[in-house]
Amino acid sequence: ASLLACQALAGDDEWLSPVYKDFYQFPLPIPPVKTPKTSYVNKTTGDVIDYYEIEIKPFEQQVYPGLKKARLVGYDGMSPGPTFKLEKGRESVVRFINHGDKETSVHLHGSYSRAPFDGWAEDTTKVGQYKDYYYPNKQNARTLWYHDHAVHITAENAYFGQAGFYILHDAAEDSLNLPAGDYDVPLALASKQYNKDGTLFSPAGETDSLFGDVIHVNGQPWPYFKVEPRKYRLRFLDTSVSRAFKLYFEADGALGKKIPFDVIASDAGLMTKPVQSDNLEISMAERWEVIFDFTQYAGKNVTVRNNRDVQHDEDYNSTDKVMRFVVGKEVKSQQGNGNLPGSLRSVPFPPSKSGVDRSFKFHRSNGEWQVNGVTFADVKNRILAKPPRGQVEIWELENSSGGWSHPIHVHLVDFQILSRSGGKRPVLGYEKEALKDVVLLGEGETARVIARFAPWDGVYMFHCHNLIHEDHDMMAASNVTSLGDWGYPETTSFIDP
Ligand code: C2O
Ligand code: CU
Repeated sequence: ASLLACQALAGDDEWLSPVYKDFYQFPLPIPPVKTPKTSYVNKTTGDVIDYYEIEIKPFEQQVYPGLKKARLVGYDGMSPGPTFKLEKGRESVVRFINHGDKETSVHLHGSYSRAPFDGWAEDTTKVGQYKDYYYPNKQNARTLWYHDHAVHITAENAYFGQAGFYILHDAAEDSLNLPAGDYDVPLALASKQYNKDGTLFSPAGETDSLFGDVIHVNGQPWPYFKVEPRKYRLRFLDTSVSRAFKLYFEADGALGKKIPFDVIASDAGLMTKPVQSDNLEISMAERWEVIFDFTQYAGKNVTVRNNRDVQHDEDYNSTDKVMRFVVGKEVKSQQGNGNLPGSLRSVPFPPSKSGVDRSFKFHRSNGEWQVNGVTFADVKNRILAKPPRGQVEIWELENSSGGWSHPIHVHLVDFQILSRSGGKRPVLGYEKEALKDVVLLGEGETARVIARFAPWDGVYMFHCHNLIHEDHDMMAASNVTSLGDWGYPETTSFIDP
């Protein structure tokens, strides 16, 4: 397609949702930082537990001027919910009070949350009830996110607003002096579809996918964000039900010319080193963080675009646009604006081994999305693995569902992607330097991942993070059982190698 065609706004017939005319006209919302209600100090150890309360409640959002407001249900009545920012080692208890209209379960994605605090799909909190979740926060600095995980209605609950950032900091990362404060920006992507009256189209009746044609960042369709001509840390998270992105940045006057940036962190925090790239593939639930340098673009716009070749779906021209950075002329602070360190962290990759310990096929049978022939509703058979606690295993994850892709998330572990074969995408350059908790299986792809299973005993889910697939019912569980000689939590050697 010609550059001009790419740049043209989509015509009416190219929309599922009402046509949205205001690209880059509204500012990027930054979710407020959540403050604890109170903190408890353990008098013997000096350890601190911060106590928070979040109310899940309805709110309205005017997405289309002149049409009806969309009714959403979010954490503290906003979406994304407020951002948690915690120092590693500072424990937290969060009371989630359900004043929404459906049952909920809260999963802190990326956390070593021990059952029953991991958001097990059937451990739901009914309307009018609350549940207190305990989070150890003992992992290295990373971008986590909290979102709904209620059985069979996760797509609805997350899409109607229940998702937010939870960011862990630690001293090692702080010492690198990366861009911080206003120069560290969380960006939650979401692709949605609206009804003709301006209300949000529900994923409830969908059984394949809901790709959506209205791209939101932090809840606002196609926002703009004012930046200074300097370096920024951008924390990308894809909260979409079904849409993966392949992002790139382009500047005014150089359309189609992809500007390189440095990828520095993944699902599990900092990578070994910065990896330069001019595009960023991000699928549902993945977190990728980049350092983008706006220095050369003072007084110009830098637009984040989406190259739509990343997945097979019905695509709309509107989905090639994401957001715009409006670059000012003045730099107010040089904090974190220096050269990036050549190495970021000694990433605790699992010790290498050979062979495959377990294989899982993600496929479609009888109109259901399944894992090795079972669905999550198949209560008797859904525990597909019993890894001894502390054991390093290689899992082979195979996409045998034809033309679909599946981002597979394994709860409670950070894994290394050893290989990805059978499709178009080998292990990507930045994936090689990272630990992950989601791996995208494109069409026909098989990935091998290695991880230590796991810090806690208990039953934990693994599933496709296309939320329609997850709900219908491509989710199974592993039962981590104790070897009896491993010793967590007496030693933190696994949590903090
Ligand atoms: Cu982000 Cu089991 O999910
Ligand atoms: Cu899937």
